[in-house]
Amino acid sequence: MQIEIVGSQKEAGQTGLKIFTEAIQNGAKVFGLATGSTPIPIYEAITASKLDFTGLISINLDEYRNLAVEHPESYHYFMNKNFFSKKPFAHSYLPNGLAADIDAELKKYDQIIAQNPIDLQILGIGQNGHIGFNEPGTSFKSTSHLVSLTENTIQANSRFFASIDQVPKQALSMGIASIMSAKKILIAAFGINKAQAVQAFIQGPVTEKVPASILQNHPNVTVLLDTAAASLLK
Ligand code: F6R
Repeated sequence: MQIEIVGSQKEAGQTGLKIFTEAIQNGAKVFGLATGSTPIPIYEAITASKLDFTGLISINLDEYRNLAVEHPESYHYFMNKNFFSKKPFAHSYLPNGLAADIDAELKKYDQIIAQNPIDLQILGIGQNGHIGFNEPGTSFKSTSHLVSLTENTIQANSRFFASIDQVPKQALSMGIASIMSAKKILIAAFGINKAQAVQAFIQGPVTEKVPASILQNHPNVTVLLDTAAASLLK
């Protein structure tokens, strides 16, 4: 893993932009995208740049179950607001959290990933080491699946909802095997509350207890950290 430590969100954005730019120059066609607070400075830098995604494809990691796409906390809404309204792709895929037949939706999502192999996947990391909505204990062999969120994640996400009761309890997520199939991965973490997860996934054992630790086995990973998130690295 290549570790890049930056001093500010602005610098993080520029580093992310550089990685996206190089990927496009190298012929990348399919981008795996994440939501959450972490990618925002990167998406800001990208959407302010000259990069053109109109011939390219994006595939998002996850979406809440049973949250309307117009809900401001849905990942559809987030992606439109922070990326697609400014830089559209030829096609952007997100899991349909409203699908009546969830098994069919998950199968369809795996087919989409198989037909559009991801060139560059961007990831954030949860305080418990999750990637996508793959919580600790998720099989490294997992493909797209329905997830019951842990209390830890519901608590962490409650800051975006009027009350904790409104946080969805389930989500559809790309699996860990699907994430690992990406040719290159950029995982970012900012702030002291990520420091423990960062130390564990980079320097701890590769274990399903820390989903992101599987990235130690991926041949092309860049880890983008600020000094706070990097502060527990030995
Ligand atoms: C988001 C996602 C999650 C987040 C993680 C960190 O699509 O899949 O794994 O990346 O929960 O969230 P933030 O960036 O808000 O700290």
